[in-house]
Amino acid sequence: MARDRDIQVNVLCAGKRYELRTYAHEYRSLMALIYDKVYLEDFGDCKGIGRCGTCHVLLLDYREGLLKREGNEHSTLNKLSTSQGNSRLSCQILLDNMINGLTVEVVEDNHPGLY
Ligand code: FES
Repeated sequence: MARDRDIQVNVLCAGKRYELRTYAHEYRSLMALIYDKVYLEDFGDCKGIGRCGTCHVLLLDYREGLLKREGNEHSTLNKLSTSQGNSRLSCQILLDNMINGLTVEVVEDNHPGLY
């Protein structure tokens, strides 16, 4: 049965804007959605265990609660010189209605090989 793609996420990357539509839990995480739809190199290298930092995004327009970091996300982000108060690892953000309308900017200048 086809499902409505009722969640929209706007992704800014390398001067381009992508409007991605999905539905709750279509992908394991926001990282997996971006990886599949935007085709970025060196993105999501650890496949979502929260250690590489290559899926780092800045939340530009978000709901209260989305800044809460999960698991080892805080320590991984602390190792990145590009980390800011609105930083998240997109592999730790689930696809649910909380992210509908979210705008994120992919941070491309991350240190590779952290893990
Ligand atoms: S995919 Fe490696 S930290 Fe998110």
